Amino acid sequence: MTTPALLLLASLAAPATAPALPPKPAKLGLCVACHGEDGTGRAPGTPHIGGQDRLYLERSLADYRSGKRQQVPMTSLANALQPRDIEALAAWYAAQPGFVGGGQR
Ligand code: HEC
Repeated sequence: MTTPALLLLASLAAPATAPALPPKPAKLGLCVACHGEDGTGRAPGTPHIGGQDRLYLERSLADYRSGKRQQVPMTSLANALQPRDIEALAAWYAAQPGFVGGGQR
């Protein structure tokens, strides 16, 4: 069997994997202390945002940025974001598996 055919077979045999994550946003470092890289809230009062609807995340961040939605600390954090950062962060967190479980942290 030729090498290309083997490679094709190998790729067909590969287990189904989750869709590739979008590239890590440049501003992700601003978020991880509270939401983690996977969007799981790290402290009481911090929402889980992993796996949340992408457009909802974009709108929330845009609303914090414009002042339509005001809540410490998100209002000041969102002011450090450009629209392209908001898009990238929303795509990143929406692509995470999401929080499973419940109860207290
Ligand atoms: C110091 C802790 C902290 C950091 C850092 C932080 N957040 Fe938050 N985030 C919160 C808290 C607390 C809330 C809830 C605010 C509220 O009640 O509106 C929140 C809310 C949100 C929401 C709204 C969720 C919803 O369900 O409506 C989004 C989206 C979000 N954060 C994204 C981000 C992103 C993106 C970053 C990085 C740029 C970030 N946060 C950094 C603490 C933080």
